[in-house]
Amino acid sequence: MKTFAAVLQQRGLPTPYAQSRPLVIEELELAPPGPGEVLVEMGAAGLCHSDLSVINGTRLWPLPIVIGHEACGHVREVGPGVKDLRPGDAVVFSFLPTCGQCPMCAVGRPALCEPGVAANRAGRLLSGATRFSRADGAAVHHHSGIAGYSQFTVAARESLVKIAGDLPMETAVLFGCAVITGVGAVVNTAKVAAGTSVAVFGLGGVGLSAVMGARAAGAYPIIAVDSLAAKLPLALECGATHTVHAGSDDPVLAIRELTRGGVETAFEAVGDPEVIARAFAATRRGGRTVTIGLPHPERNLILPALTLTAEERVLQGSYMGSSVPSRDIPRFIEPKNVSRRSGFFWQPVTTERYGRRY
Ligand SMILES: NC(=O)c1ccc[n+]([C@@H]2O[C@H](COP(=O)([O-])OP(=O)(O)OC[C@H]3O[C@@H](n4cnc5c(N)ncnc54)[C@H](O)[C@@H]3O)[C@@H](O)[C@H]2O)c1
Ligand SMILES: [Zn+2]
Ligand SMILES: [Zn+2]
Repeated sequence: MKTFAAVLQQRGLPTPYAQSRPLVIEELELAPPGPGEVLVEMGAAGLCHSDLSVINGTRLWPLPIVIGHEACGHVREVGPGVKDLRPGDAVVFSFLPTCGQCPMCAVGRPALCEPGVAANRAGRLLSGATRFSRADGAAVHHHSGIAGYSQFTVAARESLVKIAGDLPMETAVLFGCAVITGVGAVVNTAKVAAGTSVAVFGLGGVGLSAVMGARAAGAYPIIAVDSLAAKLPLALECGATHTVHAGSDDPVLAIRELTRGGVETAFEAVGDPEVIARAFAATRRGGRTVTIGLPHPERNLILPALTLTAEERVLQGSYMGSSVPSRDIPRFIEPKNVSRRSGFFWQPVTTERYGRRY
């Protein structure tokens, strides 16, 4: 079948993109789903900073590629062997297909799935296939096994999480990346406890979700930091108790003053090693710094090494919110399930809260 899709042919083009136009809408051929694969009609797709990172060359996925990795839609056809999804089912995409078999999946850490990341790096589905091609037969790659900026896509069953059919697509899409990443970093990676202090650096979709996760976990105070003043009122709406404008205040000093010595957990959701170092400096003795942002692969992080040891600081990465997508996407969507079982209370999000990012 045919599908219109946004294809990235060349990375690192100069901004403004309105002039250099790195994405071109092309009509591509989409092959039918193979064994274990599913044809999905896209309902909504978001623009995460990681999409921009593919365009500007911070994330080096193979080209040409149909980008977009925060997406949801409806199943239109299932390939041989797919028994648990049917045409019409609403699904959210997981941006890492989780094989369920590899050593990391086996120990309950599917966000580190080894065949999943290998497939993503190759721009292919978990089976190794690509299903998009141009008129001359040349293959076009899939971003994170999803290719969200296409009308239709074929994805591995392992890239899909079934959700209730009544959630509007423009809300459901947030759970595919921003929410699973930000909330997951708080509740899965850091396991923030009620009454403990949190700072979040960077208030895009991911950071605002971390703020909501911290609120849901009962953290206090929740200090939201951004260099753009316009993000701060949005953070208060999402549950922050204090805000710091990194453009005019020294965020480390401000946080240390507010908390008399630093927060117990700091999250970095920018993707800049200097901000990671600042987040680290804003934690108290014994504090934990969780990195969510994805810097350029050639950038290094410089931290005071003695402090790490002598003050028992913890530095921890968080990928896809250390999530189990099939468990966490439905539980983050459904507040009642979660609050009854684990005491974790979740407020439903709306796209409004993100300043109409989608
Ligand atoms: N770990 C994961 O699994 C994962 C998943 C999704 C996104 N990410 C990464 O998370 C990061 C955030 O993604 P997003 O979509 O929310 O990005 P975004 O661009 O929407 O938001 C980033 C925010 O950081 C702010 N900022 C920039 N420089 C700052 C500074 N020096 N101090 C304080 N704030 C600053 C910006 O004003 C902006 O509000 C990106 O690096 C993205 O690639 C990681
Ligand atoms: Zn993302
Ligand atoms: Zn695996």
